[in-house]
Amino acid sequence: MFLRNRFVQKLGGGFLEQFAVRTWSRLLFRALGSHKEKDVVKLLRKIQRERKSLLTAFEAYLVYSVARAQTKRPGDFAEVGVYAGASAKTICEVKGGKTLHLYDTFEGLPPTSEKDAGVHRTGQYACSLESVREYLQGYPDVHFHKGLFPESAEGVEETTYAFAHFDVDLYESTMACLDYYYSRMNPGGIMLSHDYSLLDGVKAAFQEFFVDKTEEIIELPTSQCMIVKL
Ligand SMILES: C[S@@+](CC[C@H](N)C(=O)[O-])C[C@H]1O[C@@H](n2cnc3c(N)ncnc32)[C@H](O)[C@@H]1O
Repeated sequence: MFLRNRFVQKLGGGFLEQFAVRTWSRLLFRALGSHKEKDVVKLLRKIQRERKSLLTAFEAYLVYSVARAQTKRPGDFAEVGVYAGASAKTICEVKGGKTLHLYDTFEGLPPTSEKDAGVHRTGQYACSLESVREYLQGYPDVHFHKGLFPESAEGVEETTYAFAHFDVDLYESTMACLDYYYSRMNPGGIMLSHDYSLLDGVKAAFQEFFVDKTEEIIELPTSQCMIVKL
């Protein structure tokens, strides 16, 4: 555990992290290319080249695939943790007529708590709202909510959801996402989170939140987990 945390901390946010994600993804994209739709693999590769992102090729594929499936369910789409907009663009590519709500401080991570095991630093993964807005221009019905989530969700409390993607790295932010979205997900709606098996704070939030719920945490072979709302 200690070694894993040190490893993630060392990679955190810089050139090394991007290098590791891209090098590993090169292999994973090859694997995907051998049996998935060529156009989808090409698109995800292009997005990874365009923007800094922490999603490996398989993780990006899962975001794409789950979002695409959820277009058939009632409700809006949301992402908390946008950074430079790579996963948001992936969702935009498949969302069709769905409304997408994007939440980020656009000033990087808020302060960490003890449960985050010192892996991140405040302000890490900052990317300006203007830059992400420009990157996603042309996609209809995309709403940007700048500020600390969940305070930044003021005004859309009545909205319900078909798909919510969380990529917030921290215990308190993950807990805020679960607290906010759980009751707003429509039956069959999916919450997908990055870093469940990689970051202690993210895992702790999921495990604490779902201890008394009917839904099971579905752990995926990537770092992700998902919940299907009953
Ligand atoms: C790892 S990055 C997201 C990566 C992105 N999904 C991608 O495709 O590369 C984590 C993001 O979560 C945001 N974040 C974390 N906690 C937050 C909170 N409580 N409110 C708003 N943004 C938050 C940070 O600002 C940061 O941009």
